[in-house]
Formats: sequence, C-alpha cells, structure tokens
Amino acid sequence: MTQKVAVVGSNMMDLVTYVTRMPDPGETLEAPSFEMGHGGKGANQAVAAARLGSDVMIVTKVGDDAFADATVRNFEANGIDTTFVGKVPGVSSGVAPIFVDASGENSILIVPGANAHLLPGDVDAAADQLKACNLILLQMEVPAPTVYRTIAWAKANGVKTVLNPAPAAADLDVARIAAVDFLVPNETELAILSGLPVGSETEAETAARSLISRGIGTVIVTMGSRGALLVEAGQTQRVDAVDVVPVDTTGAGDAFIGAFAHFFAGGTPVLAALKQAAAYAADTVTRRGTQKSYATAEQFAKRQAVG
Ligand code: RIB
Ligand code: NA
Repeated sequence: MTQKVAVVGSNMMDLVTYVTRMPDPGETLEAPSFEMGHGGKGANQAVAAARLGSDVMIVTKVGDDAFADATVRNFEANGIDTTFVGKVPGVSSGVAPIFVDASGENSILIVPGANAHLLPGDVDAAADQLKACNLILLQMEVPAPTVYRTIAWAKANGVKTVLNPAPAAADLDVARIAAVDFLVPNETELAILSGLPVGSETEAETAARSLISRGIGTVIVTMGSRGALLVEAGQTQRVDAVDVVPVDTTGAGDAFIGAFAHFFAGGTPVLAALKQAAAYAADTVTRRGTQKSYATAEQFAKRQAVG
C-alpha cells in the first residue's frame, strides 16, 4: 500500500522575476526575465511528496480568480486529492512576488489571500480522511489556530505531524506546537522560536535541545547549502548537503520536507529519509522555478544514478 501524506496548508501563485540586482527606492530597472508557476509552502511540499509517489491529499483554500482554477488543475495533474480544496468567494488566491538574483538567491513577498481563510473547522471537516494518513505536513502560511488544532487533533488520533515553522512568526506559541513529532525550522526560525542565538552549529544544537525540553519530539534544523542537523532527545546527527551549482533555490526547503515526508512515511528510517531529502532538494536547485523544478521518482532515480 502506498503511504498517505496529508498537507494542511497554503498554496500560492509564484510570480518570479529574475533580476541582475534589486532596484533602489524610486528607481526603475529592467529585469531579464519572468516566469509564473505554482508555489506556496503547503502546495510545494504536497507536490514533492506526490511526484515521488506518495498518495497525497491537501486541505487548503483558493480564492475567487483565475489562479484558483489553475491551482486546482495543478493539484489534479500531480495526482493530489482535492476533496478538501475550498474556494473563498470575493477573495484573491494567494500570490508570491519573488525576485531571484544572478547567484540563485531569492527574496519573497507573500500575499496570503484565501490562505488566511483556512480555519480550524476546515481541519475538523477533513478529520475522517486525515485519520487514514501516515503523516500530516504543516507550515505557517495559514492562521496559527488552524495549525494548533491540527497538531492537537493528530496527537489525539495517533497521526504523526511535521511542522515547518515558516515564514518565521514571533508570536508562534511553543506550548501549542509541543505535541508535534518533527519540527523543521531553518536557523532564523529556530532563533525566533527558541529565543536563543543561532550563529553556529553548536548554538543551533543548544537551541534545538531547548525546544525538545519543552516537549517537541525531534528538531531538524535546515542550513541550506550547509546541510541539516537531526537533533533528537539522545543524540545529534549531521546530514551533509549535496554540492550543486545553484540556479534557483526557491522552494528547495519545501522539496526537502516533501521528500522527507515521502520517504519517512514509506518506512525509511529518519536519518536515511533526510539524506534522500537532501539529494532531492539539491537537484531542484539546479533548475529554475519552484514546483517546476521538482523531479518525479523516475527522474530523481535517473539523476542519482548518473551522480
Ligand atoms: O518556500 C517557497 C515558497 O514560499 C514559494 O513557493 C512562495 O509561494 C512562498 O510561499
Ligand atoms: Na528550483
């Protein structure tokens, strides 16, 4: 049986402008190119897991515009169950104006739109189907109470959860996410959540341990091109990054989490699943676009074989 992965989270339309540099205030600057593509942290993680072969469902909200229909069609094209994709009348779909510079680094603005309307009741409505899932993925592009409700419900119903606390929110209540099985912050998010400095790996480990002492199961600290740290109650292990020449890093973190979910929910041990996820994420960085750059299981296996 294929493992079932659920996402309770966001979707956005990514409006990506490739720039040579950012304009200064008051300045008009020509940029070399533009691409539109499907994004949003929740949708990205869902698509990565689905392309790798997981059976994926998403609980999300689209708006009242052309982007809404395109988003639903995109989920369908990726084989994702759209039963719990709700439409919000009179509201725009989520959009993300993104700027990618010549080194592949990105700057992102998000306009949540319909994503702000994903409420705890939407999670309750999907409860029967969520119960059949092995793992639920959460991010912070939807209202915090929705995330809190999902974590509490999942704990009570024996479904494992992964929370990617992104984008960083200072008002996230650690006590209300403490029941999460895996917390996957980057260094900035970890510093904000723990209230501790995260300037080195030693500091990152200390900060992660402080969250574990507050009840969180396992902390996976993502460090971009420097890899990730797997911090568990008894031990810390390193996951090395796979070296690539970056073209566009947008959504690489989401690819990492979606791939981790796919492999872990399928029975791969945590560390091995993270190594696969690092390889999968690195591969996406070598191509433009967000979901556009996510490989299928077949493409991923082929590229791994070539090395
Ligand atoms: O993590 C990358 C994503 O962040 C983009 O797809 C954009 O939509 C924002 O949500
Ligand atoms: Na990419």
